Amino acid sequence: MNIQAQYDKIGKEYLSGQKVFFSEKEDIGTKFILKSLPSLEKKRILDIGCGNGKDMLLLESLGASQVYGLDPSAFMVAQAKKTIVKSENVVLGSIEETNFEDESFDIAIARFSVHHLSSLEKAYNEISRILKKSGLLIFVVHHPFRDVLYQEKKIYGKQEIIKIELYDNKVPIYFPTHTLKDYLSQSFFENFYLAGFEEEQSLEELLETLHIPGCMGIKAIKKERLE
Ligand SMILES: C[S@@+](CC[C@H](N)C(=O)[O-])C[C@H]1O[C@@H](n2cnc3c(N)ncnc32)[C@H](O)[C@@H]1O
Repeated sequence: MNIQAQYDKIGKEYLSGQKVFFSEKEDIGTKFILKSLPSLEKKRILDIGCGNGKDMLLLESLGASQVYGLDPSAFMVAQAKKTIVKSENVVLGSIEETNFEDESFDIAIARFSVHHLSSLEKAYNEISRILKKSGLLIFVVHHPFRDVLYQEKKIYGKQEIIKIELYDNKVPIYFPTHTLKDYLSQSFFENFYLAGFEEEQSLEELLETLHIPGCMGIKAIKKERLE
């Protein structure tokens, strides 16, 4: 399974499922991102794993001066290019290695995208490289405690590719499991200060006797490295 290319196959179903789902349910991922943002005036923002560009549009409407999107799925990039005015601001690629200039963004957001990477080390280094001094990283991912329940042997910390079926079990998504320590790793703390952390409050009833948060959000501030 090519994790990065999967949205070329399921992108259409993902987007239509998402539209219906969030017409009935609160979008807590976007809520966490919005709550963590400062004033966007004169801000240059990157949406990592921008999907169809809906959050890029939102950031523009909130006053950001420049919004860029990055996604490794050609399908998603094509959708995002149709959504926003500056289609040239949507770039095909992975956050592990980009062509963006050093210290060129004030803020990077990632709504349900970075958990697709098996290791976040390269991504953290790259995000830190392209963020300006004291730049912000805000991301939302599936909660590690939820993911372990989808593992075959349910051994926390033994990484497995799991399949989750979203939106009435119609959209299968594959991604590697992570621990909390994978997100708040040595590499994280070399690059960032932790500035905010939240877990979903409306717990999911996964088993009759187990209610856990489905996702979590992290807000981080770029740390200056001592050379
Ligand atoms: C669950 S979708 C979320 C899309 C959008 N952020 C949203 O909230 O609707 C995950 C997105 O992350 C993208 N993605 C996967 N691996 C990535 C990577 N290495 N770098 C950047 N984006 C990635 C996928 O192609 C997909 O569009």
